Amino acid sequence: MTQVLRSVAELRSWRKALPPQQSLGLVPTMGALHRGHMSLVELSQERCDTTLVSIFVNPLQFGPSEDLAKYPRPLEADLALLEAVGVDALFLPGTSDLYPPGASTFVVEESVSAPLCGAFRPGHFRGVATVVLKLFNLSQPHVAFFGQKDAQQCAVIERMVRDLDVPVEIVRGPIVRESDGLALSSRNVYLNPAERAAAPRLFESLNAAQAAYAAGERRADRLVAAGRAVLASEPLIRVQYWEVRDPVSLDELERIGEGGALLAVAAHLGATRLIDNIVVG
Ligand code: PAJ
Repeated sequence: MTQVLRSVAELRSWRKALPPQQSLGLVPTMGALHRGHMSLVELSQERCDTTLVSIFVNPLQFGPSEDLAKYPRPLEADLALLEAVGVDALFLPGTSDLYPPGASTFVVEESVSAPLCGAFRPGHFRGVATVVLKLFNLSQPHVAFFGQKDAQQCAVIERMVRDLDVPVEIVRGPIVRESDGLALSSRNVYLNPAERAAAPRLFESLNAAQAAYAAGERRADRLVAAGRAVLASEPLIRVQYWEVRDPVSLDELERIGEGGALLAVAAHLGATRLIDNIVVG
């Protein structure tokens, strides 16, 4: 049975009762669970004695014109998935429980958060870092699992953990994709059939740049051009950014060197914003 912890108080007493020699893995999510989330659960179950999943649609990381209100919340289906694989506990806090009225303390990472999604979603990574640190403080996991799908989110959390001496190990899980290459995302349900048919081109564009890299191309602008060329012929895809960055610092790269590179794309298909990435080198 998955134990459902519906408040901060319930989580705290559950955590207190865990035997100290047992390792705890945390998988933070916003729910609408799919195989991407479940791959992180599986990693946690392999690595840790006990696995805690959190589902919290965090208002602090949504912009005023973003999809907070319509974000999918299929709670019963989510709980059934977690039960089926034997997750030990699910943390399901309410908003006012996690953010007491007048909460005025936030975690702001100022470097890794700035480019890519940070440039287009002001305050997003402040919301992510704040809620993730709170989840770490409340559950005190030994290991926490995040998906490479959100590579910048991983980089921000790793930087926060380093800079603030948070006693947790961060593990990145690989991107889980549909058979046609589209990265799984809770937001894919927003796509209409035509947009869904076009969406795999994002991964194709990353693959085109990766092929150019494999053929010896090291100039970032050439890789961007190779990637963008794939999307130029797809009228349903409006590219927001297509960039080549250092995979750890997220600094801009002109040439790809020893450290390899993160190739990252964000695009709108209708009203839906999708992101994807690949690491080369
Ligand atoms: P959410 O979008 O629900 O994602 C939860 C975790 O699942 C994240 O670490 C994300 O990177 C991972 N994930 C999503 N799609 C994936 C895929 N296709 N393959 C592998 N992993 C995937 O990310 C968040 O929630 C929130 O920002 C959160 C960290 C919970 C803070 O609110």
